[in-house]
Amino acid sequence: MQYGYFDDTMREYVIERVDVPVSWTNYIGVRDMCAVLNHTAGGYLFYKSPQYHRITRFRPNGVPLDRPGHYIYLRDDESADFWSLSWQPTAKPLKHYSCRHGLSYSTYLCDYGGIRASQTHFIPLDDPIYLIDVTLENTSDQVRSLGLFAYAEFSYHHIDFDNQNFQMSNYCSSSSYEGGIIEYDLFYEPDGYQWAATCFEPDSFDCLRDRFIGVYNTESNPVALQNGECSNSFEKTGNHCAALHKQIYLLPGEKKRFVFMIGEGRREDAQDLRTKYSNPEARDTARAELAAYWQNKLNALQIATPHAGMNTMLNTWTLYQGEINVMFSRFASFIELGGRTGLGYRDTAQDAMCVPHSNPGKCLSRIKELLQGLTSRGWGLHLFEPEWFLPPTEKKTPAKSPTVVPVPDTSDMIREDLRDTCSDDALWLIATICEYIKETGEFSLLDEQIGYADGGEGSVYEHMTKILDFSAEQVGATGVCKGLRADWNDCLNLGGGESAMVSFLHAWALDYFVELCRYLGKTEDEAKYLEMLEGVRATCERELWDGKWYIRGITKNGMKIGTQESDEGKVHMESNTWAVISGVAERSRGLSCMDAINAYLYTPWGLMLNAPSFTVPNDDIGYMTRVYPGVKENGAIFSHPNPWAWVAEAKLGRGSRAMKFYDALLPYHQNNKIEVRQSEPYMYCQFVMGRDHTAHGRARHPWMTGTGGWAYFAATHYMLGLRPDYDKFVIDPCLPGDWGGFTAVRRWRGATYNIEVRNPSGVEKGVRRITVNGSEVKAVPVCPEGSVNKVVVEMA
Ligand code: GLC
Repeated sequence: MQYGYFDDTMREYVIERVDVPVSWTNYIGVRDMCAVLNHTAGGYLFYKSPQYHRITRFRPNGVPLDRPGHYIYLRDDESADFWSLSWQPTAKPLKHYSCRHGLSYSTYLCDYGGIRASQTHFIPLDDPIYLIDVTLENTSDQVRSLGLFAYAEFSYHHIDFDNQNFQMSNYCSSSSYEGGIIEYDLFYEPDGYQWAATCFEPDSFDCLRDRFIGVYNTESNPVALQNGECSNSFEKTGNHCAALHKQIYLLPGEKKRFVFMIGEGRREDAQDLRTKYSNPEARDTARAELAAYWQNKLNALQIATPHAGMNTMLNTWTLYQGEINVMFSRFASFIELGGRTGLGYRDTAQDAMCVPHSNPGKCLSRIKELLQGLTSRGWGLHLFEPEWFLPPTEKKTPAKSPTVVPVPDTSDMIREDLRDTCSDDALWLIATICEYIKETGEFSLLDEQIGYADGGEGSVYEHMTKILDFSAEQVGATGVCKGLRADWNDCLNLGGGESAMVSFLHAWALDYFVELCRYLGKTEDEAKYLEMLEGVRATCERELWDGKWYIRGITKNGMKIGTQESDEGKVHMESNTWAVISGVAERSRGLSCMDAINAYLYTPWGLMLNAPSFTVPNDDIGYMTRVYPGVKENGAIFSHPNPWAWVAEAKLGRGSRAMKFYDALLPYHQNNKIEVRQSEPYMYCQFVMGRDHTAHGRARHPWMTGTGGWAYFAATHYMLGLRPDYDKFVIDPCLPGDWGGFTAVRRWRGATYNIEVRNPSGVEKGVRRITVNGSEVKAVPVCPEGSVNKVVVEMA
């Protein structure tokens, strides 16, 4: 069953059936202000921090699933009938509904009672203001008298204040109205203000939520809509809202445009912005700037392949997903409510690795934040606030509650006993730094001095050596890296037991580093870390090979996880894909272990993380064995590792196999299976229920997953084979044999490369000849900034 379609020209996903099984969301805003908004305009808005500075309220995990939101209501003042332009919250039988989720905006179209309406929600690039740009058209042959109501519910700023201790929270906020502008004030906070206004002088307003809605009503039938006007309420203390109402007339065929704005700051700050955005031209300009902002990112790479779904996803949606993760660091969604913020070490490192071409600035700032979160022993703080390492003058002070809650000392967060240390966290950063330099050519980064989380400082290069040395020290009985609190898999908790994945990751990071040393001419370090790499390789091949595939690890009691003899958790994605990606597995073993993935883990919905799922709890293995079978880390199609299998197959040269795996997970292909998938088909989800669950195929937790970044990285760098290197651009595709080729436009270090890959003899891998601007070359060089270059690659 299908609920909508991809509009490639507009780069929008268009939802035409409103009753999608779960919220289908979008992210509005790209800098400080952000709203998470669904297909019925439900959702919430925050400024900088979804933890400390929430602007509008959300009632999560609720019934119905999407309240409240940012709503425009219309009321026919003759019949007293009223409706909302986003279907919810009134849920009237609209003659037409559609929602177009685009790049940082959502547009809702609605036709009801002879009024055609559209509203676009967006946030201009440079102003902290949320806009709902509304157009109404009278399609009836009568003059219409309508009440237009704009409504949003304010939140207490701090997520904790908004969800508990109301003996305090309910008395810390106030609202007032003056000159058409509502001001919301959190008196405890020095800068705790928001404002709301429209382009018109309202006929009535409400600042008190319960007066607008009525205490026994809901957003579906607010008393203000029943009465046809608001009650001009405001007060110190209580629950507040911005409700602004205007009576308007529309002649037959007449169109009018309005705007509702929610701004950060005080009433004084509002005047200029209100004047500016009351002008429709300013709104059109802001929309155009936002579109140009995204176009510039997308222009870093656009592809045209024989695979329509791959084109749509890579050209727009998968990069969009990756970018949003880097911008908002995975903690604000309908699932993650914003109460857990800061940076997850491994997640941030992986997310940042995938966007240096489209977002070099953010990639670099994430790298530096992570380097500051590295201890001088070489492990990263698993979850931390970059702010901890800022000079005191630059720290934001989150609102403090008058209720005394002792604040932990953040120096306590660095626990020398490694009880919170994940064995993989910092290893990811090596590749991120190298990929950033390969993209930008900024080698000077390596010499920058950066502080360690526990004191002292060192160059970026030194930080990298500490990371590699830490993993070399933290090995268990057989020499394989210890699992510690967890590795990539949060639910594999091996402690002093050993993780195959981490040793392979260590090898991968070492391989990156040795290549870097070689390039820089640091021969001593090259030799030292090459020796370390050879040691890791030998240990892995000796201890982890099980005849047909690689085991997943060894518990602290010496039990091997993921062997041919295992009844449960027999084959695992992480160890087998990383054995190949790291370059450790010699070819026949690589082919064999990836065949095991195909045989045991493939489903038409993607690759499961492990199979069969665990059913018997075993605390030596960890939480994985206590997760229900087929769910999340126990035998679900955990999406994030799926692209690892595409990379592995591409490295092995099996393009059809890589594409088989790519296609299975691709949300685009599930657009007509929403009755099973449920979640939005334009986003990868954290996981899809595995074969051992009754809801096999149901996808959960869209957007905030490393899958977006990795899917993009794996498909562009390894399947299409378009990879920047330190001094050249590598083109080494691995394609299904029936692809005659593809074209791509890649921006790299200021030049444009118009790439044409030809595959006349239908091979899966292998490049016979490359020409740049007609001349044959061994590799594509760095071309002058501003130049446009024609690159032809012939496979054979
Ligand atoms: C979640 C976590 C991520 C972890 C993964 C597997 O996505 O954010 O850090 O690697 O689960 O457990």
